[in-house]
Amino acid sequence: MSVREIFETMEYGPAPEADDVARAWLERHGHRFGHYIGGRFVEPTTGERFATQHPGDGSELAQVAQGDAADVDAAVQAARAALPGWRKLGPHGRARYLYALARHMQKHARLLAVLEALDNGKPIRETRDLDVPLAARHFYHHAGWAQLLEQEFPGYEGVGVCGQIIPWNFPLLMLAWKVAPALAAGNTVVLKPAEFTPLTALLFAELATEVGLPAGVLNVVTGDGSTGAALVAHEGLDKVAFTGSTEVGRLIRRETAGRGLELSLELGGKSPFIVFDDADLDGAVEGVVDAIWFNQGQVCCAGSRLLVQESVAQRFEAKLRARMEKLREGPPLDKSIDIGAIVAPVQLERIQRLVEQGKAEGYACYQPSWAVPKEGWYYPPTLFTDVSPASTIAQEEIFGPVIVSMTFRTPAEAVELANDSRYGLAASVWTENVNLALDVAPKLKAGVVWVNSTNVFDAAAGFGGYRESGFGREGGREGMYEYLRPAFEADLPAYGEGELAPPAGAAELDAGVEAAAAPSGLPAIDRTPKLFIGGKQKRPDGNYVYPVVGAGGERVGEAPLGNRKDVRDAVEAAEKNAAWSKATAHGRAQVLYYLAENLALRAPEFEERLRALTGADRKAAGREVETAVGRLFTYAAYADKYDGSVHPTPMRNVTLAMNEPWEVMAVVCPDEAPLLAFVSLVAPALAMGNRVVAVPSARWPLAATDLYQVLETSDLPAGAVNIVTGVRDELAEVLAKHDAVQAMWYFGSAEGSAMVERESVGNLKATWVNAGKRRDWYDPAQAEGREFLRHATRVKNVWVPYGE
Ligand code: NAI
Repeated sequence: MSVREIFETMEYGPAPEADDVARAWLERHGHRFGHYIGGRFVEPTTGERFATQHPGDGSELAQVAQGDAADVDAAVQAARAALPGWRKLGPHGRARYLYALARHMQKHARLLAVLEALDNGKPIRETRDLDVPLAARHFYHHAGWAQLLEQEFPGYEGVGVCGQIIPWNFPLLMLAWKVAPALAAGNTVVLKPAEFTPLTALLFAELATEVGLPAGVLNVVTGDGSTGAALVAHEGLDKVAFTGSTEVGRLIRRETAGRGLELSLELGGKSPFIVFDDADLDGAVEGVVDAIWFNQGQVCCAGSRLLVQESVAQRFEAKLRARMEKLREGPPLDKSIDIGAIVAPVQLERIQRLVEQGKAEGYACYQPSWAVPKEGWYYPPTLFTDVSPASTIAQEEIFGPVIVSMTFRTPAEAVELANDSRYGLAASVWTENVNLALDVAPKLKAGVVWVNSTNVFDAAAGFGGYRESGFGREGGREGMYEYLRPAFEADLPAYGEGELAPPAGAAELDAGVEAAAAPSGLPAIDRTPKLFIGGKQKRPDGNYVYPVVGAGGERVGEAPLGNRKDVRDAVEAAEKNAAWSKATAHGRAQVLYYLAENLALRAPEFEERLRALTGADRKAAGREVETAVGRLFTYAAYADKYDGSVHPTPMRNVTLAMNEPWEVMAVVCPDEAPLLAFVSLVAPALAMGNRVVAVPSARWPLAATDLYQVLETSDLPAGAVNIVTGVRDELAEVLAKHDAVQAMWYFGSAEGSAMVERESVGNLKATWVNAGKRRDWYDPAQAEGREFLRHATRVKNVWVPYGE
């Protein structure tokens, strides 16, 4: 084309980024890779390999190793062997390596960017300007955490050997999100990249060798889902971190249950993009482009549900359609295209299938008039309008360049529609009214909320989901905790024989029934406690009681035998009565102080009860009550002091990291210290604004049921605390399976811990279990403080840009 013609048509010409350096790198490896284990590339045990392709044209880039259990085992062993040396290096030593990795990535930024675009099919503009710089930024940021580990996380240590599985949508960036915090915390790693996009991980491994990272600290085993499964199944891991589909996340939750592993899951999403009528509509249109056409929409936090206020919906959609017409789709290495290729034929088929389903269900579908390239795997930007919130395309993650839109009238309706999803990864809110934006943000059930922006990320801010989008955070201080555990945990003793009440059987049940039905002589005045549900004392559904036996073997009384119906009623009461979660932190503090005051008033009565139950002497019983009162004071104090923070992200914005309650939490208590353990677990949950369903000590529940009157006289709103007594693991199972429970703490047996983790898979609730280990409820280091508050909250990051 001549210069004159270009001036006349203003057409884009091709602007390809040279790929010679990346091709030369592939050539140097003979287009053939092994696993990276113990600091060097090794042949896969089976000798099996598979092809990784360039989505832009379908051509083969290289043959990579298919890992099996033996390869995984070699990698885990290498990571285990490297652990002591890596730990011994200390914070500064490790920080130096992380820093060197960041520097080295920057030096090879162009090679990484081109290789990523080749392997994944995403535009070079994105890999060059986002994936690679952000990946390097993660290593810089975490070099800082490595350096500050002892000052900033006193009493914590690295978890150990981490198995990390990442997806194909941001191959290098997800590697950085996983590897940087793991290494900073003093752990070693076995990483499994996605089968479609292993190349930048292998290049990164080479860079690690070049900076002299000690052998075995990082290991990369390539392969498909079966390799991932072999890694998760390996007994030598201390932590599993996964990003990918919710379906595989569930498998991993189940597979790791009861193994004493730390687990973080970053799963799918169907994130709302909310446009209010006062928004800068042109800005919001550009927002949609970034929300759903960035990375071809293959983004877990893609704004894939467009919610537009009715009064501007038509205007907005017209602008959006006009913008879609101008988007450019084509070869990933062309510097002036907006949309690249879809990662693999299977993903393209999935997108096609879901779009066809949307059309078949009768929804209007708009695609621009231009055609996508024939060679390679491309899909055009797609907009569905007037979609029903319940339709498949509005509920299922499509993971492609497809957005569905619907309208709302009021902010309340916008929030309701936004939250009408099983996911909760991110949300984007567009309005010029800061009051409205900051009113809506806390109401959205999402781990990240972007105000007048979308898809912005930084290493200093946590990223992660609510609900079925998983749990755990990546980035920031909150992300570091995923790779650390309290140092005392390693030395906690297991419960001894008979220290936990065995699950009650038919004999206990019969004894209880008999006791209730056959009074001898004059009937005693019935003091059998009830359950405490929705602020009222309630008879158990089954009308059964069970005997409570003192430490000396004598019968001390009876307790109601709660069943699954009682648990459901209690959860419903917690769900329906949201007043406690809406109360101010100061208000919650006042109630907790009042509880402490009322408990102190009744100290002699509780001491008597504890003596009868546990056989404690006067002094020990007095100490338990006194410590419980102190603990209530602690959490009253914390209620308005467990602050969020403002992360210093390198943009013109404030990133507010807010500690939000789970809202409906289940707390299952151990047997020992029946008053103190109960208070130690329920009070932090309450302090943070959760409504709690608590199962007290199964053996000595009367220490908790005696609290009803204290609760009733302390201004605690109905439904804030609900107490169901009975067989610990039977009640725990119902709670673990309940979809309205967002988080669950379990302190009991190892088997019970495993059961809770396994059964939590339905709604992927966050769990915190003791794995059958016994804490000392009198030791403040183990029994109170920030560790409890952290588990009682989840961090929501709200990004608020500023400037005109
Ligand atoms: P996937 O969840 O199967 O793959 C993610 C990673 O997990 C890959 O490394 C894979 O090899 C590995 N994996 C697969 N099965 C495994 C198993 N049983 N045990 C351990 N690891 C296993 O995701 P896939 O099939 O690539 O994509 C399917 C859908 O998942 C997408 O259409 C999208 O909706 C969603 N997805 C979500 C992602 C996110 O970032 N939230 C990322 C990738 C996919």
